[in-house]
Amino acid sequence: MTLSGKVIIITGASSGIGEAAALLLAERGAAVVLGARNAEKLEAVVQRIREAGGNAAALSIDVKKRTDLLRIVDFARETHGKIDVFISNAGNGAISPLDELRVDDWDDMIDINIKGVLYGIAAALPVFRKQRFGHFIHTGSTAAHRTVPTMAVYSGTKSAVRAITEGLRQEAGKDLRVTLISPGYVKTNFADSVTSETLKLEVQNGIDQVGISPKAIARAMIYAIEQPLDVDVGEIIIRPTAQG
Ligand SMILES: NC(=O)c1ccc[n+]([C@@H]2O[C@H](COP(=O)([O-])OP(=O)(O)OC[C@H]3O[C@@H](n4cnc5c(N)ncnc54)[C@H](OP(=O)(O)O)[C@@H]3O)[C@@H](O)[C@H]2O)c1
Repeated sequence: MTLSGKVIIITGASSGIGEAAALLLAERGAAVVLGARNAEKLEAVVQRIREAGGNAAALSIDVKKRTDLLRIVDFARETHGKIDVFISNAGNGAISPLDELRVDDWDDMIDINIKGVLYGIAAALPVFRKQRFGHFIHTGSTAAHRTVPTMAVYSGTKSAVRAITEGLRQEAGKDLRVTLISPGYVKTNFADSVTSETLKLEVQNGIDQVGISPKAIARAMIYAIEQPLDVDVGEIIIRPTAQG
């Protein structure tokens, strides 16, 4: 129960990495406040945690809406009196070749992956400043380290997240911690957000063949949170051994 007493908000907690993080962090004693759009799936995660004796609540939020991020931060603070960690994990992988001009998908990736993270910062930073403690954890991607065909926009959004996270770390000062967790292929529903049918299959195959468990990413989050308060874990890159 190493996270006992910690209050942790997780976006994108209705499936995949966010769901795995919610379950594991709650198992370690954290009170988790979960956000995503799908209320039914969120409620199922909350029920699993409660049945195992954990503390969880959920709010249906869309990270494209700044007010939704403010709402979940207010909810967590009003319920628990403080927030220890804000995990911006919601993401969209609507990858495609640029020639297909799927401009709506580009907009979605920018709005969810970049602006969603910024809105999380805008909502939680004033609270963290007032408390004089707080930890931002952002889910990045190995796509920020290596750009490949079809991933130009996605890679661009995750590169932006990487730069924003590093900028935040430098501005955060001695009271706050800032961590980027950058996964490679992870076995989740990630391929569902790919709108190009042939590419969706390709991404799904890649994930099926070499993807690692989302629990591996959750454990990295726990590692960063468990460090003493003056220890700031900057970035953790976790990929399957089989990933090039
Ligand atoms: N899986 C991989 O191979 C991989 C690799 C590198 C990085 N990542 C990153 O890991 C993060 C989690 O993805 P995942 O792999 O766990 O995929 P996933 O299973 O599809 O989970 C994505 C989560 O984001 C939520 N979400 C999407 N759009 C949202 C919005 N507008 N507002 C609120 N929540 C939203 C989804 O919930 P709702 O649909 O209910 O809103 C879901 O809970 C993403 O940032 C992704 O870019 C994944």
